[in-house]
Formats: sequence, structure tokens, C-alpha cells
Amino acid sequence: MIISGKDLAAELKKEMAADVVKYTAQYGRAPHLVVILVGNDPASVSYVTGKAKDSLEVGFKNTTIRKDESISEDELVALIEELNADKEVDGVLVQLPLPKHISEDRIIATISKEKDVDGFHPLNVAALWQKQECVLPCTPKGVIKLLQRAGVEIAGKRAVVIGRSNIVGLPVSKLLLDHNATVTMCHSRTQNLAEIAREADILVVAIGKPKFVTADMVGEGAAVIDVGVNRDPETGKLCGDVDFEACKEKASVITPVPGGCGPMTRCCLMENTIECYLNQMNK
Ligand code: GUN
Repeated sequence: MIISGKDLAAELKKEMAADVVKYTAQYGRAPHLVVILVGNDPASVSYVTGKAKDSLEVGFKNTTIRKDESISEDELVALIEELNADKEVDGVLVQLPLPKHISEDRIIATISKEKDVDGFHPLNVAALWQKQECVLPCTPKGVIKLLQRAGVEIAGKRAVVIGRSNIVGLPVSKLLLDHNATVTMCHSRTQNLAEIAREADILVVAIGKPKFVTADMVGEGAAVIDVGVNRDPETGKLCGDVDFEACKEKASVITPVPGGCGPMTRCCLMENTIECYLNQMNK
């Protein structure tokens, strides 16, 4: 079974849009998401465009602020502080990666925790690992929703996560653990990776290497979630970290790229923005 993140996201966005109509009437204004993009990286431009499109679809006010690559770190900090102080802004997201002369750590920490719709702020990350209330990071949250939607039981299962990034690998592992899976955290240099991956009931891959996961790494009947977004070096087309055609024969459920985790990430961003908006409105 191929799990369509696109279809699930469309369904969830429709529900959110209906809620947003109610909230807008109740609170006198729609949720407002501000996305900052520095520079012209084509992948980032495309991500930011998708976020704006989804925002409009669910009835948010969306502002995309584009800045030239020459913006200084201090100027970007000042812009974020202005947005932090603006009562009519609910969510602030700075698209990563940033140019080398800007510290991503400083920028992420500047966004107020209450407006951190990405869930990247150190206080949000700490809250997640300490089992406190927090904004859940979008991609990991989307991965769990995809598994649940596909009817995959998480509790008691063996999950193997390949990739240990702050954005995906680490928080996905934590969420799976919170859902009572037994989690093995791996990376590209893990010894006997194929052997370990083959034992997984749930295999999540976020490593950024096209077709890294081959059929011999997938156990019969595994649920395979591919978080990778790459260009196929042969065809130039978008592809994941998993050799989809070969692995779909062994997996019980598998996500495609595109149309799997990507739309769910954006959908969870919309959900997080509503969460921040409601928290602000009910303060
Ligand atoms: N770049 C790649 N993924 C993301 C994301 O989820 N959030 C932000 N801000 N930048 C990204």
C-alpha cells in the first residue's frame, strides 16, 4: 500500500480551513504566518512557495518576506524581533539553510518560543525531550500521522531510524519512543546497517542520499517512511532516500517522493500555526 501524504494533507487542510473560518469570526482576525526567505536557493524558494499556498488554502494571512543574501545577521535578528513583538503575527519561520555568514543557531533562538511554528527553538526542543508541552517539529509530527493513517501500530514495534539530524532523525526517534516503539538510531556509517534495517517493523529514512535504501535493507512487511528529498542523478527528477520501485515489493506500506512526507510537513506547519494563534488569543 502506498501512503499518500498528499491525500491525507488535503483532507486535514480541509478540516483546518473549516476551523479557521470559525476562529476568524470568533477572534476577529485570521491566523498569520510570516515566512522569511534569505537568498534565492531554488529548493528553498519552492518550499516557501508551498508554505504560502497551503496558508492561503487553510485561510491564513501569509506574509513571505524575501531578503537579499547580503543581509547581515544583526539585520535579520532585528527583523525577527520586530515580528516577535507584533501582536498580529502568530508564527515566524525562517527558511533554512541560511547563508554561511549567518548563525542558524542564533536566528532560531531569536524567534520567540511562542511563535516558533517549526519547533526548532532550543526551549521547544528541550521541552520535547523532557516530555513537556511544546510545539512538535513538523516533519516528525507528519511521519507519525502518516503511520497512524496507514493503520500501522507503533506501540511495541521495532522502529529503525536512519539519519540523526536535528530537524528529522533525532525528533522522529523521540516521537516513536513516546509512542512506545523500541527505537534503533542509525546513520550512514552504522556497521551492518542492512542487517539492522531488515529487522525493522517501521523504517524511517532521512539521510539525504538518493536511493540509499535498497531492497535488501527492507524486511518483508515493513512500513517504510521516506523523508528524503533528492534529485535523481540519472534523471534529474525528485526522488527519496529509498529505492521506491524495488522496496515497494517488500514493504507493507511505503511513502512516495514526492507526495509523501513533504505535504505532511507543510500540513503540520499549518496545524502548529493554529496552535500558536490559539495560545496567543487565549492568553
Ligand atoms: N529547510 C528544510 N526543511 C525545513 C523546515 O522544516 N523548516 C525550515 N525553517 N527550514 C527548512
